[in-house]
Amino acid sequence: MPAEDRRRRCPQPVGELSARGAPCSPRTTRCTVTSKMGALDFRILGPIQVNDNGRALSLGGSKRRAVLAILLLHANEVVTVDRLVDDLWGDRPPQNAAAAIQTHVSRLRKIVGADAIATRRGGYTLEVDATAIDLHRFEQLAAEAELADPVTRAALLREALDLWRGPALADLMLEPFASSESARLDEARLATLESRIEADLALGRHREIIGELSHLVAANPLREGLRAQLIIALYRAGRQAEALAVYREARRILSEELGLEPGPALKELERGILHQDPDLAAPIYLSGASPWPVAAEDWEARAAEVLKPGPYGYIAGGAGGEATIRANVAALERVRLRPRMLTGNTARDLSVDVLGTRSPYPFFLAPIGLQRIAHPDAELASARAAATLGIPYCVSTITSHSMEEIAEAMGDAPRWFQLYWLNDREVTASLVDRAAAAGYSAIVVTVDTPIVGWRPRDIGRSYVPYSGSQGIGQLTSDPVFVSRLPCPPEENPLAVAEAMIAMFPNLALTWGDLRWLRERTPLPLLVKGILEVDDAKRAFAGGADGIVVSNHGGRQVDGAIASLDALVQVRRELGPEAVVLMDSGIRRGADVLKALAAGANAVFIGRPYVYGLAVGGEQGVETVLRQLAAETDATLALIGASAVRDLDGSWIVGLVP
Ligand SMILES: Cc1cc2nc3c(=O)[nH]c(=O)nc-3n(C[C@H](O)[C@H](O)[C@H](O)COP(=O)(O)O)c2cc1C
Repeated sequence: MPAEDRRRRCPQPVGELSARGAPCSPRTTRCTVTSKMGALDFRILGPIQVNDNGRALSLGGSKRRAVLAILLLHANEVVTVDRLVDDLWGDRPPQNAAAAIQTHVSRLRKIVGADAIATRRGGYTLEVDATAIDLHRFEQLAAEAELADPVTRAALLREALDLWRGPALADLMLEPFASSESARLDEARLATLESRIEADLALGRHREIIGELSHLVAANPLREGLRAQLIIALYRAGRQAEALAVYREARRILSEELGLEPGPALKELERGILHQDPDLAAPIYLSGASPWPVAAEDWEARAAEVLKPGPYGYIAGGAGGEATIRANVAALERVRLRPRMLTGNTARDLSVDVLGTRSPYPFFLAPIGLQRIAHPDAELASARAAATLGIPYCVSTITSHSMEEIAEAMGDAPRWFQLYWLNDREVTASLVDRAAAAGYSAIVVTVDTPIVGWRPRDIGRSYVPYSGSQGIGQLTSDPVFVSRLPCPPEENPLAVAEAMIAMFPNLALTWGDLRWLRERTPLPLLVKGILEVDDAKRAFAGGADGIVVSNHGGRQVDGAIASLDALVQVRRELGPEAVVLMDSGIRRGADVLKALAAGANAVFIGRPYVYGLAVGGEQGVETVLRQLAAETDATLALIGASAVRDLDGSWIVGLVP
């Protein structure tokens, strides 16, 4: 659609103006800042100053945004200081009102450009040149998309995405527009869209349209034709496992939710898969090979194909030279099992009970933040998969969904809450209280991350997912955190990210503080990130009910001791009664059993289930967990043990003394 036509369909909102700022320099970038004053929505379109991390400077509190809104409303006119004072405070201005206005204006100049706000007789003028609006094409498309009807919006969004695919800033900016709301389309438009996608498929553009199709399918779940197209696109892109997952979901919705037989689109697809189209004749149907990877390395390799380098590097990477990642795996490989034969153990018990939380298998899902970078369903997918199998899920503080939403997705299934102890004690307390109210049955406080480790893969790509609107679900749903913000979170996601980043570092924390947390919550308390015997003792002395021996998957201290080696020392000193979990490096069933034999009551599974999430969403996580459970059981059977709780040092060799 030509730009002119689009513009005619999209009325300009009051207050949308292009501020004429300084030309782009290395410290400026083009982006959109959206804000609100009363009923008035306004955006600044044009060069906006960014800080060293590439984030737009925050507009600040409501008064400052109000100043900008008033200047925008009276663009190119003189707005006197008296008028601003009057509008902001009415007849009860503070003593230093004029000085406060001056401060707000000078801060605003830093953001919109020094020249944009001129000082005039007794006031200020925001200078805008409405005839020379020279927006970056992306901004133009994105702005129009926000205003347009859903039909036009989807098309505009697509164009905008094409322009911006890649840069991290684009992801951040597209976030508000990429809601499924914007892709829920009416019947006529869906038909048109399907024809266009048909053409894309015929032109071999399957890779390019997968993102758009996934989005459309999520927003229009009952549209069989779109699902069929997504399946075809995924197959042609070599992503068979995902295609199969979409296919199964389509069949499930049809039979379970709608009680219908497959329609023509799926029928045709099935015929294609089974008989005709060589592109669709997937080996899974013809040869019976698994649609999913099986070996841990293959899951990771598939995840690396599916994910962009930024998210993959964030998940797979670690601190410094990643020596600790390798050490974790090497320690588990160094230890060997001692199988016993002819034990006649036809029935085995893999279940564990840790501080009153039961798991049918001796592993829990580790707290993993920012799961949305792996899959759009993020923590909800992991939560559902864990709930299906009854395996406890330890939910992170850094999630896209609130702990209450995750709890709802899990029903009565077991769950723990992992706490990052923020430097704002009241917010921390609020998180802990909410966890108890939402049915989490233990608090796991992570003590190895008072700041984020030095992670070259992320630094090299400037990949900082938590600097955008990722991972803020627990906080934007928290009333105490929200009370710390200058404006409601939906008005300024950047301010939320800023507040979160400001609250995260907590290097001042000491063991003495643990008492406070102990007294704050009636739930069992575990301390995660212990690598040293005296620290383990301090944790219990401070009131902890258990500890998790962990080096955070080698993400924090490069060169730190392997978790398995630390576990052996801790168990030896603490004796058999202490509750000690372990994680870092567990990749397969034999690893689980080695860790239990070395002294763990249970282990946390980390990266493996995130790779499952990346490859196949909820089904991917479920498959990883099922495979791990089956492998653990088979190995237990083969070493001749009938219950995981019977494993001890006599079942292994090769421990570091
Ligand atoms: C992508 C990623 C995000 C993580 N986020 C958290 C987190 O939010 N809180 C936490 O306590 N640990 C977090 N961890 C550490 C895990 O809980 C666990 O200790 C680690 O993954 C174990 O190492 P492994 O995955 O190599 O087995 C994260 C690990 C990864 C890989």
